[in-house]
Amino acid sequence: MTAKVLVAYQTKEGASEQYAGAIAGTMKAKGFDVDLIDLKKAKPDIRQYDIVIVGAGVKISLVYGKWKSILKKKELANKKLAMFLTSGTAIEEPDKAIEKWVQPLIDKYKLKPLAVGSFPGKVPEKFAETEAQKNAVKPELASAWAEELAMKLKEG
Ligand SMILES: Cc1cc2nc3c(=O)[nH]c(=O)nc-3n(C[C@H](O)[C@H](O)[C@H](O)COP(=O)(O)O)c2cc1C
Repeated sequence: MTAKVLVAYQTKEGASEQYAGAIAGTMKAKGFDVDLIDLKKAKPDIRQYDIVIVGAGVKISLVYGKWKSILKKKELANKKLAMFLTSGTAIEEPDKAIEKWVQPLIDKYKLKPLAVGSFPGKVPEKFAETEAQKNAVKPELASAWAEELAMKLKEG
């Protein structure tokens, strides 16, 4: 049977939605049965899925709440999990963003993600000075991340 994948995201500036879309597209192309869900519009039933991929952004040093509410669900314990975070910090220091916002949740909820992605977020127009800042969002990073994840999932 085709494995069912949930790609769920919360976004405020739009970048996590772009990343989630790229991930869902890649997983579909790899043969998975994928549902893409905006957590602001729907509450997915985790029990329906074999693989759960959840992502969100960060603002004023806080990760979005609906991301956390998925990560603390007990039903996640027997699912394959992957997480991604979108932040301004990740434009230059993706590892720092993981350390600051993802690792504490992994520890708190005793998660065992197969993959953790840290993707560059949108710099609001009025703050974007350099070309790199204006074009910080790179969905192709999420596609490559999802390709690797798909390979891992197919291996076992
Ligand atoms: C008001 C505001 C506050 C932000 N605060 C932070 C922050 O504290 N740390 C950070 O790394 N990025 C910060 N950012 C950048 C966001 O993480 C970035 O816009 C990202 O794309 C948000 O995810 P989203 O587009 O999915 O909503 C902030 C952006 C805005 C607009």
